[in-house]
Amino acid sequence: MTDAVHTQSNPATADLTADAPSFPKRVFSGVQPTNRLQLGNYLGAVKRFVDMQNSGAETLYCIVDLHALSVWQDPADLTRATRELTAGYIASGLDPEKSILFNQARVPEHTQLAWIFNCVARMGWMSRMTQFKDKAGKNRENASVGLFTYPALMAADILVYHATHVPVGDDQKQHIELTRDVAAKFNNDFKTPFFPMTEPVIEGAATRVMSLRDGTKKMSKSDPSDMSRINLTDDADTIAQKFRKARTDPDPLPETFAELAERPEARNLINIYAGLADISVDAVMAEVSGQAFSEFKPRLADLAVAKLSPISTEMERLMRDPAEIDRILANGAERARAIAAPILKRTYEITGLVV
Ligand code: TRP
Repeated sequence: MTDAVHTQSNPATADLTADAPSFPKRVFSGVQPTNRLQLGNYLGAVKRFVDMQNSGAETLYCIVDLHALSVWQDPADLTRATRELTAGYIASGLDPEKSILFNQARVPEHTQLAWIFNCVARMGWMSRMTQFKDKAGKNRENASVGLFTYPALMAADILVYHATHVPVGDDQKQHIELTRDVAAKFNNDFKTPFFPMTEPVIEGAATRVMSLRDGTKKMSKSDPSDMSRINLTDDADTIAQKFRKARTDPDPLPETFAELAERPEARNLINIYAGLADISVDAVMAEVSGQAFSEFKPRLADLAVAKLSPISTEMERLMRDPAEIDRILANGAERARAIAAPILKRTYEITGLVV
């Protein structure tokens, strides 16, 4: 009781919800190093990461290798995927001088804070996470404990930097809400507005890239058909062929938005064109409505090749020197630790740990 009165009368600690705007803007996001980078990640996540970097905000982008381990990973594949993702990011315009680019395993403060958060978060909160339910499937008893506590590590990834903004896909919204719950409970339990209420920056449906074989399904690195997606490592001929063979209906491209809304394949190709050309869907419609697909598809293929082949060439060049990639990650990790270490230390002190 006295604590509550004290909190209310002390302006420095009155706001236990710790609004993100009162913390300096800091952007953080994480991506798992599983499989290959494809057009969906490029137009959805990576391009946004680059835009945020170039807007002058402080940006940290983390390859969450420890999260990947929550389900089985072949060791050699994990190593390769970590380097390939790093190369893909840099080739797509992430500048390791401007952004802090690193892998999670190199910054032990993430897992250290995750332990504290394991003790803050409740079993009930974790049990409600839809990603856990989806990934664990029917056989929950056999899921790793890491898969269950995954969101506590994710909250630690974000909050160990006091990050205020997190660009993520729609499927991660629930995890960001949990991150806010963890921050609020910690602040409340220890009566200090130490952690910010991080804001998700959700990728809109308009930027979602769908499968080239089925306009109602998300383009995915795990789709069994390689024709369904454009990989950032595809060469020019493969890209052109995939667009030529992309599934469409026999009608010409729609003339109206109402019609576009009802034709998922046409809408997807127009969205991809808009994303690659960096123009609005309206502008693309003005140019191409009424055209035959046989005319539009080669244009789209040319544009995709023009935009993506410099990226895949650069990626290949970077992949030839894995030691350089590892140096970039090590340097990023050092800069990340410089921010994380004092925040972790303060967290330990707040909780009463003797450090
Ligand atoms: N869970 C995220 C995903 O599957 C990856 C992730 C881990 C992440 N830590 C994060 C995203 C922190 C944003 C911030 O996509």
